[in-house]
Amino acid sequence: MKIGTYYYPEQWPREQWERDFDGIAAMDLQVVHMGEFAWFTMEPREGEIRLDWLSDCVEMAARRKLSVILCTPTASPPIWLVEKHPDILPRDDAGRTKRFGGRRHYSPTSPHLHEATSRIVSALADRFGNHASVIGWQVDNEYSSQFFDQNTHAVAAFQHWLQKKYQTIDALNRAWACQFWNTFYTDFSQVQLPPGRDPRYGNPHQCLDASRFWSWAFAQFNKVQTDVLRPRIADRWITTNFMLLHPDANPADFAGDFNLMAWDSYPIAGQDKAPNNQTFRLGDPSQIGMMHDYMASFHGRWGVMELQPGQVNWGDSPVLLYPGTVRLWLWTALAHGAEFVTTYRYRQARFGVELFHAGLVGPDGTTPSTGGREFQQTIDEVDRLDLASLPPPPSAAQDVKSTVGLVFDFEQIWYFTSLPHGRRWDYVRLVRQWYGALMRLGLNVRILRPGVPWTRELPMIVVPALQMVGDDDVKQMTEYAAGGGHLVLTCRTALMDRTGQLFEGPLGKPIVPLIGGMIEAYDGLPEEGAAKVELDDKEYTWGVWGDLLYSEEDTKILAKYADQFYEGAAAVIQNKYESGVVTYCGVYGEQDFTDALAAKLATQSNLPARPLPPRVQLLKRGVYRILLNYSLQSVDAPAPPRTRFLVGTRKVDPAGVAVWKEA
Ligand code: GAL
Repeated sequence: MKIGTYYYPEQWPREQWERDFDGIAAMDLQVVHMGEFAWFTMEPREGEIRLDWLSDCVEMAARRKLSVILCTPTASPPIWLVEKHPDILPRDDAGRTKRFGGRRHYSPTSPHLHEATSRIVSALADRFGNHASVIGWQVDNEYSSQFFDQNTHAVAAFQHWLQKKYQTIDALNRAWACQFWNTFYTDFSQVQLPPGRDPRYGNPHQCLDASRFWSWAFAQFNKVQTDVLRPRIADRWITTNFMLLHPDANPADFAGDFNLMAWDSYPIAGQDKAPNNQTFRLGDPSQIGMMHDYMASFHGRWGVMELQPGQVNWGDSPVLLYPGTVRLWLWTALAHGAEFVTTYRYRQARFGVELFHAGLVGPDGTTPSTGGREFQQTIDEVDRLDLASLPPPPSAAQDVKSTVGLVFDFEQIWYFTSLPHGRRWDYVRLVRQWYGALMRLGLNVRILRPGVPWTRELPMIVVPALQMVGDDDVKQMTEYAAGGGHLVLTCRTALMDRTGQLFEGPLGKPIVPLIGGMIEAYDGLPEEGAAKVELDDKEYTWGVWGDLLYSEEDTKILAKYADQFYEGAAAVIQNKYESGVVTYCGVYGEQDFTDALAAKLATQSNLPARPLPPRVQLLKRGVYRILLNYSLQSVDAPAPPRTRFLVGTRKVDPAGVAVWKEA
């Protein structure tokens, strides 16, 4: 794993560049990332391409044996382009045009933007595509926008996209259920983009398609760039930096144009409201790990493009990280198989909206920050491992018998955002709970996405809240269970088709034959509400969602509700289905409940579970065992007696890491 940093030479006096590169090399960083947002410096006037400065910097990096990641500058279109073609600016629902003066002020559907983009990206790729120091390319920056653009280009593109998808307006009327309130269309040219994902009293099916379209629109703009890059950059990788499940960009829409996936990891920005929570200063290991494994699920190859180096400027509060946390995150990335980790940014800015954002060194360009020192320490430690001997990322090479599949479907985020049906409903949190529960058992987790074949040999596959299903999804689940797998389904699975319309039939109609019972009703409680569910003589609280289940005679009841007027009703049931087993968990509990249920089910499936303390993960990479302690208690590493630790000691402190070898 290479470790490196972003550097923005265009933001600093030229006389300081050599010194800054010396500093980067002296920290033993191995990668420098450049070019992002620098469109104006690269092309100060239309067609006047100036890349000598960047070339000088690439050479400065090369002389110090640093690898280079280059980034296309399109997240910040220059003033001349905006002046000449104001129609590249996006427009919100109230008709207000986004102003120049920040970033991401473009509509991905603007033809003029595409044209100018092709020119600057071609120039960059022609100049640097074959440079020996350049290892890969990042396209644009964090695809996203503040609203669905209502620019005429965007609306026309939406209509075109719909026409291609539905062919006839009648088909669209059916998919969007326009008989509801008589909202029939007679021509595609009449269809508008909704203002956002919340349909209010509009049409949720339309919002769903708008979400699909909007991600597709960014992917098309991305493709303009990858089509230019690919023939000019030989075997270098191409990617972008996704945010943490930002709804504007479904990675699956982009993956076909990339050969490596990457994301930006900012685990601590004060969103956790309780300073005494362990997540507050350390981050949530399930959130981080699941996203790493999700990235790995596309091509195996993946990286962290921006790793938070310390305090950020944009959080709810400027939370100070627990000492050692940046190092813990770096080791987490390595444990999950990252090819590289770079950080935003080397030098803290003296100016601009991000001037309070940490860097690896302070604004003076020389004084290492706490994060900078932790980067240095980790680089030194990682050097003790023989990385070349490691197998590819775990998700591609795990031992199947100790791996659980976890189905995660980005599309569900969109519809759950539009129609959550309960303020507490949080799809991603539910998936993450299962991820955390399985990781705590010391098992490998493989993220599975709809449309990707499932490995039949996986002993257990968990499908949390796959609310919209297509025929293929149902077939995949049914065949897996019939073939001997242990299929674990949860509440809100298979309630509707992929247009977001309920099935004509009982709740969860397509899975009724699998679960050996019926979903008779469901309950959801308000924010402060907590009810009880009993599993193996222990009570747990739940509040988000509870299906009341009827079970057939041969179906086992694993958990029951323990209060409310429906006390005694089944909450989790298990059915023998052909050669396999189907468990249906109707209750959305808290982490402790999911932990207990996951442990029980894993044992039933003969998975080699090795329970770990909460918030502690133990990952295998080749011969290495990497223990990550995201808790505020010290833990003992479960290493054989007399183990020699390569990193850390048997006693692993809060935010600590231990690495040892085990055959
Ligand atoms: C990222 C973004 C960077 C920088 C950073 C600050 O989301 O890609 O350009 O703004 O946040 O944390």
